[in-house]
Amino acid sequence: MDDSLLPILMENKLLQGLTDVQLRRVLALLKGEEFAAGTSIIRQSEPPQRVYLLVEGRVEVRRSLLGEAPGDIVELVPGSFFGEMAVIVDATRHSASVVALTPVKVLSLAARDFTLLLNEYPETIRNILSGTVLQLQGLNKRWLETLRIEKKLLAWKVREHTRELEEMNQRVQRELALAQTIQRNLLPEKRKSYPGISITTDYIPCEELGGDITGVFQIDEMRLGVYGGDVCGHGIYAAMVMSYVKKLIETSVKRILLNRQYIVKPPGAVLTTINQSFITEISQGDPEIYLTLFLGVLDMEKLTFEFSSAGTHVPPLVLTGGIPSVLFAQSDFPIGHVANHEYATSRHKFASGDAFLFVSDGVIEARNGETSFGMDRLMEEAARIQKDTGRVEADALVSRVREFLGGQPPQDDMCLLSIVFGRQEDRAR
Ligand code: CMP
Repeated sequence: MDDSLLPILMENKLLQGLTDVQLRRVLALLKGEEFAAGTSIIRQSEPPQRVYLLVEGRVEVRRSLLGEAPGDIVELVPGSFFGEMAVIVDATRHSASVVALTPVKVLSLAARDFTLLLNEYPETIRNILSGTVLQLQGLNKRWLETLRIEKKLLAWKVREHTRELEEMNQRVQRELALAQTIQRNLLPEKRKSYPGISITTDYIPCEELGGDITGVFQIDEMRLGVYGGDVCGHGIYAAMVMSYVKKLIETSVKRILLNRQYIVKPPGAVLTTINQSFITEISQGDPEIYLTLFLGVLDMEKLTFEFSSAGTHVPPLVLTGGIPSVLFAQSDFPIGHVANHEYATSRHKFASGDAFLFVSDGVIEARNGETSFGMDRLMEEAARIQKDTGRVEADALVSRVREFLGGQPPQDDMCLLSIVFGRQEDRAR
């Protein structure tokens, strides 16, 4: 090869430090080649055959990782060399492809001659090493810069997400507050009277939306429907189930004309229908979705009370002359647990001066430290109130429960409903 190429060889980073004589010997091994822009001079998939000294033009090193499209790593300018790595480490393929960005002139050396060169001239090894060290330093800088940018980006993304979460949380809180207001509106009036009968109800909500339900509604001139229940769980779901059940009860307990006489569907039959609708429309067989429900139909004249209970944990109390007793000892299955179940109807007759009291489990389970309010305390307090005042009203009991809680918020919501039966003459029409 022509001596005029000697200055070019001298400029190449691989051959720096070699004497004229040594460069001439290298020159004899070199082959000149030209490539058009866009040509792949080296392909990543191919085994190493030659090492290239870049004389003119620019090339780009591109590497593809695990089937991804190749990404550019670095651009090389005249004076650089490439294709050496695979030869040095005796690899079966190149570590990257090298593509001509412009028309390119190179001088190339067979892999075997390159190895000889390294063996004979230790300077070349030093040149390769210093090139690698510089590359590594550049790489470190680029990494640090990328990390710095990514850190900034990440911090920005975290701020954005936090803001979005806060907005979402505010929206949920607004919706929950709205749901709570709607739920309160579903509760019965705190006081309601019918001739000789006075009904009081109260409700202490816990922080979350609860699934407690009570209500009183008039079926006809003589009869009242009374119910109380608890949907298993809290939150929007429980509140929605509660309003669904309320509607279901109030539309199911109806007066029907049978043999020219108006009768009211017995509470057991109503619970049987509610259980079926609940399973088909709401729980769809999921055993974790259920509710407890007590339903009674009160004849205000005769003071007879027909009732049925589905899973009620706390049986309603009857108070007679300051003596409490439970309306029933054991309840039937909760609504939603057993498909096609038939609920039975039981009967009780109240007397003038009696009181009926329904409370949800939240009252019994209200805790102060290790102690819970409990059934015994409920009976004692209700009896005492009846002895002291002659009547058991929901708000009087609520103040006893609040006193017991000693300012702590309730863990579960609490519902209370009391019916006080007045004197015979007040009831007479
Ligand atoms: P080799 O692995 O034989 O084939 C691809 C060549 O691209 C490689 O040798 C080096 O010459 C060059 N190369 C690969 N990675 C880099 C890099 N990160 N910086 C500079 N050149 C590289």
